[in-house]
Amino acid sequence: MKIIVSLATLFTLCISSVALANPVSSEKQANTAVQFRQAVLQLVRSNMGPMGAMAKGEIPFDAEVMIKNSQRIEQLGLMMEDYFTPDTRAFDVETGALDKVWENQADFNQKANDMVTAAINVREVATAGASDDYRKAIGALGGTCKACHDDYKKD
Ligand code: HEC
Repeated sequence: MKIIVSLATLFTLCISSVALANPVSSEKQANTAVQFRQAVLQLVRSNMGPMGAMAKGEIPFDAEVMIKNSQRIEQLGLMMEDYFTPDTRAFDVETGALDKVWENQADFNQKANDMVTAAINVREVATAGASDDYRKAIGALGGTCKACHDDYKKD
C-alpha cells in the first residue's frame, strides 16, 4: 500500500512538472503564444457576455444558453494551463499578462481551475432549473475572472 501511495505521489509530481514554465526561444514564438492565449480569453469573454447580461437583468435568463456557454468556459478553462505554459517574459511582447504568471504558476493554474469549477456549477444549477440560484452562480463565475485578473493581468 505504501508503495502504491508513493508511486501515486511520484506520478503527481511528474504531471505537475509538465506544467512548469517553458521559456519560448524566439520573438516569433512569443508573439504566437500571446495570440493563442488571448484568443482563448476572447472566447471566454464571448461566452461570459450573455451570462453577465442575464445576471444584470438586461436580458432574460436562458438555461440553455447558460448550459452551453458554461460548458465552453469549462473547456476553455481546462486549456488555460497549457496555453500559459509558454513563458514569454524574455521578449518584448504586447501582453496583458504580468510576469507573476510564470513566477507563481501553481497559483495561476489553481485560479484557472476555480473558473472551471464555477463554470461546472453554473451548468449544474441551470440543468437543475434552479432559477433562484442563476444570478448567484453567474456572479461566482464572474468572481473567478476578477480574482485572477487582480493578481495576474495588467489593468
Ligand atoms: C487564471 C487566470 C485568469 C482567469 C480565471 C481569467 N483570466 Fe482573463 N486574462 C488573464 C490574463 C493573464 C490575461 C492577459 C493575457 C495576455 O494578454 O497575454 C487575460 C486577458 C483577458 C482578456 C483580454 C484578451 C486579449 O485579447 O487581450 C479578456 C477579454 C479576459 N481575460 C476575460 C476573462 C473573463 C471574462 C474571465 C472569466 C469568465 C477571465 N478572463 C478569467 C487571466 C485570467
